[in-house]
Amino acid sequence: MLRELFTYLKTKASKEAKAFGHLYESIAIQEREKRCKSFWLPHRTKCKNFISSHLKLAKAFDRVLILGSGPLHEIPIDILSTTFRDVDLIDIVHLSETKNKYSHLKNIHFIEADITELEKKILHEKKIINQVPTFFQNQKYDLIISANLLTQLSYHLRNFLEKKAVPKLTDVELEKFCYQVSYDHYQYITGFQCPVILITDIETEFIGIHDELIDKQMPYLNFPLPAPKDSWLWNLAPRPEVSKDYSVRMKVAAFILNY
Ligand SMILES: C[S@@+](CC[C@H](N)C(=O)[O-])C[C@H]1O[C@@H](n2cnc3c(N)ncnc32)[C@H](O)[C@@H]1O
Repeated sequence: MLRELFTYLKTKASKEAKAFGHLYESIAIQEREKRCKSFWLPHRTKCKNFISSHLKLAKAFDRVLILGSGPLHEIPIDILSTTFRDVDLIDIVHLSETKNKYSHLKNIHFIEADITELEKKILHEKKIINQVPTFFQNQKYDLIISANLLTQLSYHLRNFLEKKAVPKLTDVELEKFCYQVSYDHYQYITGFQCPVILITDIETEFIGIHDELIDKQMPYLNFPLPAPKDSWLWNLAPRPEVSKDYSVRMKVAAFILNY
């Protein structure tokens, strides 16, 4: 607990990263990852292999943009660093542990930014705003990678709006907002003039102690996606990580867009 508090205090993060809970979550996930490392390894390996085996889609190897880079657990960063001249890593939080670990890779650039481009405005105006982001679209990239970010984007925004919006929002309004945030990210990444690798969860399953399916939840995705090139199960929280009664696993799918 003390170590987490120390990390929280010493990490340079934006007002929004703190206000929406991203910084707290990044630190908590880093701790959970230490407990779940072996369960998460197959998912990470799948992500890394999928990305590595599709780098050849790029027509040139000057610049790659990774959205949702976080602690780089799912990103084959050494391979990207040797394949591309520049590797731009975008996340609302990069902990110094991650930056220090890869400081020997001189062509990777950690950039802290809100990929929805909504947080500053919503924090200020406390109301629903939707828009397709434009960050980095005026720059030339050879490949875009959106790495397990799509379904996360609305999570903290929804929690914030649920508590703080004035006037109070209905569930229907909040759900509509969340679906739009996901779709705007999809429109954003497909707006680049280069191939896009999209990796995202598409379903969450709750599994009981006899390996029976208790419940299924769908993330905020209600627009047509192309057929995935690959998919797998991610053993996200085996019992008793979140409950002694059930485990949580996700279906993850990997797509190639703009190609
Ligand atoms: C499931 S994690 C992705 C992990 C990462 N791909 C890896 O290789 O370890 C989702 C990431 O999305 C980031 N994120 C969530 N909302 C964001 C936003 N609005 N802007 C930028 N990053 C965001 C989180 O900070 C977190 O690092």
